[in-house]
Amino acid sequence: MVLLHPQVTLIPSASADAESPNQQILPLTADVTASGSLMVGGCEVVELVRQFGSPLYILDEATVRAAARQYRQSFAQFYPGEVQVLYASKAWSCLAVCAIAASEGLGIDVVSGGELQTALQAGVPAANIYFHGNNKSQGELALAVQQGCTLIADNWLELEQIAEQAGQNGQRPRVMIRITPGIECHTHEYIRTGHLDSKFGFDPDQLSDVLVFAQAHPELDWIGFHAHIGSQIFELKPHQDLTQVIVDWLVQAQQVGLPMQELNVGGGLGIRYVETDNPPSIAAWVKVICEGIVNACAAVNLPLPKLLCEPGRSLIGSACVTAYRVGSRKHIPNLRTYVSVDGGMSDNPRPITYQSQYSAVVANRMHDPTQEIVTVAGKHCESGDILLKDISLPQTQPGDILTVFGTGAYNYSMASNYNRLPRPAAVLVQDGHAELMIERETYTDLLRQDRLPARLVR
Ligand SMILES: Cc1ncc(COP(=O)(O)O)c(C=O)c1O
Repeated sequence: MVLLHPQVTLIPSASADAESPNQQILPLTADVTASGSLMVGGCEVVELVRQFGSPLYILDEATVRAAARQYRQSFAQFYPGEVQVLYASKAWSCLAVCAIAASEGLGIDVVSGGELQTALQAGVPAANIYFHGNNKSQGELALAVQQGCTLIADNWLELEQIAEQAGQNGQRPRVMIRITPGIECHTHEYIRTGHLDSKFGFDPDQLSDVLVFAQAHPELDWIGFHAHIGSQIFELKPHQDLTQVIVDWLVQAQQVGLPMQELNVGGGLGIRYVETDNPPSIAAWVKVICEGIVNACAAVNLPLPKLLCEPGRSLIGSACVTAYRVGSRKHIPNLRTYVSVDGGMSDNPRPITYQSQYSAVVANRMHDPTQEIVTVAGKHCESGDILLKDISLPQTQPGDILTVFGTGAYNYSMASNYNRLPRPAAVLVQDGHAELMIERETYTDLLRQDRLPARLVR
């Protein structure tokens, strides 16, 4: 074990495959050169910034693939029935990530026409795409039905609209029903979805009415139930409880003559952002889900359903780091030192949105001792634009490369152009090679959609 700056423990990459990526702060391939320079995917972070600019998302392909394999292999070990792992592409939707997920045998969960188009263009078969959302437009529904995706029905309006689509091209859309399971878990209020006061899905007490609707609409292929209880969850108990609840729904469907055969338990497994985070491994999470479903089905003599889950964060979160150039500094005696970087809440809105914590190092000073506690600020015109509060770092100089870990999930996908900052580039690194997977936006890109009414031209 190599100790970097105090917050970050580097576990040697030799045992990479045995590690659960969601339990590591660093990507599995992270290493440090003899001269004290951080490497990811066999590439020096400093060199990547020199070549591709900053801020820069650096995605370690080996870590994503290791996480995908651990999901697949754990299900193979613990579930004696059919399984499909879906990648929740809201975590990071782009062609390269969808293509990697699909090449690992994962399907894709999408929540918009844009995510659907991205998955399709990445070559994901429509049969492996599951379409979510609490307010899908008619156009999005039509596209999903026409392509042959599975629809996760969220509300009455949508059920009516899917039923209307059904007859049109002789298609029989596959429909899964999303229900709020009423399970509380300890995570941030905004990323908790399984409790009853949630905008997503049907209430459990609406289930019997939904089943009546289903019986009246045989033109739809009613395949099963979906539930998602929240994100960044470290406890296993809520997911264990969910398995019992979701199997009960299947039993109720059986009782009214609807033999549904798929259960989707959503995503939610957390990742380690800082040393004090302690998420269970992918294998431990999968084991609890599988044992719960198997036991609940055995208790009521129900054949095992096809089991689906849709992790996002735990598949990709730890695989990415974001590299920034250090710029100005402001020292307030006896209070705080701010060190500013060339990105911020536009490339990572999680700290300002959820008060999320991260770990970071200075990629070109990995052997330097930590010398000061600073607060790393973004460059946006917003006092809350703080990426890391009170973090120990070596003495930094302008031009140093501050590197934040665990930025693979809900960073690029939630990025904005606030203050008209172009969104950063993203590179995919593997075995010492770096390939551009998302180009850096230019000022031309920023202005592309602007139109200046003729009367305002000067
Ligand atoms: C319906 C649904 N499925 C899957 C996910 C992925 O969750 P996570 O990234 O926590 O695994 C989310 C995210 O909140 C979601 O809303």
